This record gives sequence, C-alpha cells and structure tokens, in this order.
Amino acid sequence: VSSDSLGNSPSDLQKYVFIYRTDTVNMTGQHQYKSKESFVREPFVVRFQSQNTTIRDFILVPLHSEPSRAVLEINKLYDVFVEVSKKWNNKNVMFLGDFHASCAYVTRQDRKKIRLYTNSDFNWLIQDREDTTVTDLTSCAYDRIIVYGEPFLRAIKPFTAKVFKIDTEFKISRSQVVELSDHYPVEVVLKSSALFLQATPLLILMIIQSFLSAL
Ligand SMILES: *[C@@H]1O[C@H](CO)[C@@H](O)[C@H](O)[C@H]1NC(C)=O
Ligand SMILES: *[C@@H]1O[C@H](CO)[C@@H](O)[C@H](O)[C@H]1NC(C)=O
Repeated sequence: VSSDSLGNSPSDLQKYVFIYRTDTVNMTGQHQYKSKESFVREPFVVRFQSQNTTIRDFILVPLHSEPSRAVLEINKLYDVFVEVSKKWNNKNVMFLGDFHASCAYVTRQDRKKIRLYTNSDFNWLIQDREDTTVTDLTSCAYDRIIVYGEPFLRAIKPFTAKVFKIDTEFKISRSQVVELSDHYPVEVVLKSSALFLQATPLLILMIIQSFLSAL
C-alpha cells in the first residue's frame, strides 16, 4: 500500500510504501495526515490487525523528515498521534522511518522541544548509540522506531529492535549496499500469539519456582 507522491517540489516527490504479508496481517485502515505547515512529506498512516501477534490492532506512522526541519517535524508527530489514535480509538501506535534524529540535525539540547522525547510514554527502541548510516564517515542514529505505551512495549520481542546490516546479513560488499541506500534499514520483531512460544518463559519460571519451594 502506498501514499500519493508527497513533497514541496515537483523535482523531489517521494512516497511512503508499506509491503506486508497478507497471511500475517490485515490492513484495515489508511489515513493521509494533512498539514503542509508541519511536514514536507506528511505521514501516510496505516492500521493493521493480526491474529498472529500478541498485539492485535496497531497503527504505523512513517516519517522521512526534512533534515533541516527534523526537530519540528518529529515534534509534530505528537499531533499525528492524537489525530489517528482518536480516529481509530486505539493508542497502539508505532512511529518509524528516517527522522534524522541524531548528530547535527537533532542535538541533545533539541530534545526538550520534542514531545516524543519529553513524554516518557513514548519508547525509543533504536538507541542513540546505533549507527544507521552505511558510510564509516558518519555514526548517527538517524533512523528510528518508537512505540507508544506499555501495551505496545510488551508486544515487542525483547532486544529485537536493531539496525539490519544488509552487508553482513546477505554477504554483499559495502559498495553494493551504497548502491541501494546510504542508510541501513531498522527492524523490530513483534511477539507471536502462537501459544507455545508465549508459554515457554512462564513455564520455565514455574519450574524454577517449584524447584525453589521444594528446597
Ligand atoms: C484477516 O481477516 C480475516 C477476515 O476477518 C480473518 O479470517 C483472518 O484471520 C485475518 N488474518 C490475520 C492474519 O489476522
Ligand atoms: C496465523 O495464525 C493462524 C491461526 O490463528 C495460523 O493458522 C496461521 O498459520 C498463522 N500464520 C502465520 C503466517 O504464522
């Protein structure tokens, strides 16, 4: 599913595109956020439902920020959150994309101007120390994944939010990666609703407990 072409200049139009597996998720809604003052490329928001994840109903908000406006645009994602969570009566929202949320575009001091930082209900899953750029010349966590609230955080498989290093994963050279992009993708895994997977940690805990109480 794809947005229309977005941007201020006819020579630089971009689309948000979601590629998904129809046997894993159902797309149940789309919403093009409209505010030319807030974004150069306004988020194209998509709602998914799935029987296969512990989180059954969730909303994805993408952003490719304009670098020089990164602080303002990331801050405005809060308004997108308010609009779409009202529209679908659901606060399970994940933000993802190239926010330019690092290095010179978003400094430590800038964070107090960004509600997704000052409000601790927003969980930044890709950490500041990560490097989402391909070249060795920069080390910046431009690309991020953020989820709102405890329910979504609990639905994330622990420690799976990371940079997907295309070269090591697919055994291709750095120069081949650069032909694709100057950024690496970022990824995260949602917990499966398959019963035995969910039950395993609980089962282990219960065995330990009964072992301890037997002592
Ligand atoms: C998608 O929706 C159909 C119809 O409601 C349902 O049968 C199916 O289980 C859903 N798929 C997933 C992955 O949740
Ligand atoms: C999703 O869950 C259904 C049962 O709820 C199962 O039949 C199906 O194989 C699962 N799909 C995937 C891709 O795991």
